[in-house]
Amino acid sequence: MSAPRQALSRPANTGQSVDREPRLLEVSGLTTRFDTPDGLVHAVNGVDFHVDRAEIVGVVGESGCGKSVTIRSILGLVRPPGRVVEGTARFNGVDLLGLRAAELRRLRGAEIGFIAQNPFSALNPVMRIHRQFANILAAHGIRSDAIARDRARDALADVGIAGPDRVLDGYAHQLSGGMAQRVVIAMAMLLNPAFVIADEPTTGLDLTVQRQILDLIRGLVQQHGRSMLLVTHDLGVVAQYCDRVVVMYAGKVIEHGSVRDVLTSPQHPYTQALVRAVPRPGHPLVHLTGRLPDLVDYPAGCPFQARCPHVLEPCGHVFPEPTTSASGRTYWCHLSQEREAVR
Ligand SMILES: Nc1ncnc2c1ncn2[C@@H]1O[C@H](COP(=O)(O)OP(=O)(O)O)[C@@H](O)[C@H]1O
Ligand SMILES: [Mg+2]
Repeated sequence: MSAPRQALSRPANTGQSVDREPRLLEVSGLTTRFDTPDGLVHAVNGVDFHVDRAEIVGVVGESGCGKSVTIRSILGLVRPPGRVVEGTARFNGVDLLGLRAAELRRLRGAEIGFIAQNPFSALNPVMRIHRQFANILAAHGIRSDAIARDRARDALADVGIAGPDRVLDGYAHQLSGGMAQRVVIAMAMLLNPAFVIADEPTTGLDLTVQRQILDLIRGLVQQHGRSMLLVTHDLGVVAQYCDRVVVMYAGKVIEHGSVRDVLTSPQHPYTQALVRAVPRPGHPLVHLTGRLPDLVDYPAGCPFQARCPHVLEPCGHVFPEPTTSASGRTYWCHLSQEREAVR
């Protein structure tokens, strides 16, 4: 005879006390403002998302949506008049936003590699490349110049630079955009971080070089079981390089989920508009019209209401509750309640 039914209906919380390993990165309620002469800019408004081990998460949205401010907030790189006013960013369980500047500097580089948008602003124009590698290593306790040169040579070889000595003895302005970004990637990977954050790492490079650089970064991430947050405004890049995607609009996350779920059946009207704006054979190209709302006079309700083809009455005054599917895809739209109602 089978076990009595009661045995199956134990209290629902059984097992919840088991300690789970903290997520690699868990961002919660992140809110960043800029206090400008024109007023308070609501750049990032209660952003939640996470990154697990060995996954590549894309952050996508039009220019001005708050992608860079989000990652700069996480990395402690927001400068006045900007300020993180709320939220947490737990990295292996430790809140980065609560760390002292020196501790955060140590973590950046050693545990989190950052690849910025413009390699020439990341490189020092008046210091030989070798010295810049040596300084990174010195800041982390490796002071021998000979060891620094060996480590830098290896790092440059890993990013496909043949003849690394010539690069090491030169200056940033002697490099092409693609080469400069390779050097920045080598610097980001120098201390073998488990997590890489790349902010539009191929902006300004020609298309072939863009692919080469993205292939290179993905290779370095996957080969070492690293994770990556890849910021881009290009859904094609998300489709090709990411496992999951976070869609941002006006400083809020409005949809996130697996790349397959989000790109093949986008649920938020903004994500739908982004997907329609990607050139694909056999599909009409529909350009995204309208503009982001004023981030100083931030709208009540859903920030996409002014551009949305499906506006409902509550959109003008209440930000919607999330709707989550079994596969974990979540979106924030009042249409979901409407869809539920007609079922
Ligand atoms: N230093 C600053 N002062 C005032 N506003 C800023 C500053 N930096 C960013 N912002 C504002 O924050 C918003 C988000 O910017 P950003 O994160 O750079 O967008 P994205 O990276 O998605 O293109 C923008 O409206 C931008 O104008
Ligand atoms: Mg940006």
